[in-house]
Amino acid sequence: MNGKVLVVDDKQIMRDSVGATLQRAGMQIVSASDGQAALTAIARHRPDAVISDLKMPELDGLGLLMKLKEVDDQLPLVLMTAYGTVDVAVAAMKQGAFDFVQKPFEGDQLVLTMKRAIEHRRLIQENAALKSGVSPSDVMPMLIGQSQVMRKLATQIKQIAASNGTVLVHGESGVGKEVMARTIHACSQRRDKVMLCVNCAALSSSLLESELFGHEKGSFTGAEQMRKGRFELSDGGTLLLDEISEISPQLQAKLLRVLQENQFERVGSSLTMQVDSRVIATTNRDLTDCVADGSFRQDLYYRLNVLPIHVPPLRDRLDDVPDLSNHFLTTLAMREGRDQKHFDDHAMELLMQYKWPGNVRELQNICERAVVLSRGLTITANVIRPWLTDSHEQQAMSQAAQPQQATAKPQAYAPKTLEEIEREEILKALEHNRGNRQRTARSLGIGVRTLGLKLKKWKESNLVAQTV
Ligand SMILES: Nc1ncnc2c1ncn2[C@@H]1O[C@H](COP(=O)(O)OP(=O)(O)OP(=O)(O)O)[C@@H](O)[C@H]1O
Ligand SMILES: [Mg+2]
Repeated sequence: MNGKVLVVDDKQIMRDSVGATLQRAGMQIVSASDGQAALTAIARHRPDAVISDLKMPELDGLGLLMKLKEVDDQLPLVLMTAYGTVDVAVAAMKQGAFDFVQKPFEGDQLVLTMKRAIEHRRLIQENAALKSGVSPSDVMPMLIGQSQVMRKLATQIKQIAASNGTVLVHGESGVGKEVMARTIHACSQRRDKVMLCVNCAALSSSLLESELFGHEKGSFTGAEQMRKGRFELSDGGTLLLDEISEISPQLQAKLLRVLQENQFERVGSSLTMQVDSRVIATTNRDLTDCVADGSFRQDLYYRLNVLPIHVPPLRDRLDDVPDLSNHFLTTLAMREGRDQKHFDDHAMELLMQYKWPGNVRELQNICERAVVLSRGLTITANVIRPWLTDSHEQQAMSQAAQPQQATAKPQAYAPKTLEEIEREEILKALEHNRGNRQRTARSLGIGVRTLGLKLKKWKESNLVAQTV
């Protein structure tokens, strides 16, 4: 492998001749006709170096250089300059361009410059890998994305998994907070123990209290049996508290106590119990705002925020889009037992320009819809455009309608996928039937073999606990 080079020029004849020269030197070539197309190609093909014409319509070589700083500031860019524009090229090198070659150039000189650029890139990457020691797929094959953001997250997750502290995962709806939480558990020493999940927004305060801490028989109307709470049940394992900002002040006090002293009482009991479960909380609201407006206890915030993780929105790491969509298309093909479909270049460009208000979940939904609605194995831009532009217009409209609320975040529409809903219902039913698969399958109206196969698949993907 001699490295992959992206050749950017608006003139086909230049792209072809530069490409052919580098190819003869053993390099792999991808090409793009302007700066904008180059950005898409970079995300898709991950070249080791870029060689670009200086003058191009739309986004030119210098514009591309500026954009590269945002997308991948380690990717070396070599500029091709015509006679008389050398001063611009020199200025570009001061701005961070790797080198320039002056047209007309010798083939040898071109090859040498690009070899140096590729080598430079390789050294930087080796260094970074040595420093961090982690790539997302090392941490867990299910954590998709190679963007700088995801690499940083993967490193963070590995460190966090090795410790026992409370974790607070913050990020917009659908960014993958639950995936991160499950990854932490799966990489931690508790991986062979259970991980349970409670959605704090879904239950009233009193129901949530008995869900978390359990209750004694007769402690309230309807409490016909003693019931263990999630803290007790996840002893030795991990407890995921989803949407933590939504819990009532009374429960905040109780939660603070478990976090501080590992102690609690079941509702209606005076017997103090000890637990050792690791808490991971998620929130899509900024908890410091909740502390400021008095709806969230500050002391509890500090107890939760021991190991904070912020998962940035997908629009801030668009170079994860190709990997993620590829992953979803592969998973879908496997699920349906069919050949894998793929997005054509134009469709991928659209996906990479979109703002993704519903984040990764929205991308997943679009992949599912596209697979169902497209004919053949190629998904074209026409199939997906209506879904993307619609939300753009809606966003624009809602922003225009509320100009004074410029700081309000757009409400994301991020429905769960059918598979997520299925998984949740099955886990609920299993728990209700205390893990008995025969009864669970019967109550859901499916065969026990089907249930077994689904659970096996989810376990392999770490979507459910290994102990289920
Ligand atoms: N990095 C990733 N790799 C693979 N799949 C991902 C990744 N991030 C998100 N997903 C998928 O996207 C969907 C949404 O992720 P998840 O449920 O973790 O988001 P969330 O932040 O918890 O959302 P919400 O705030 O709505 O609860 C899931 O199906 C998840 O598997
Ligand atoms: Mg979630």
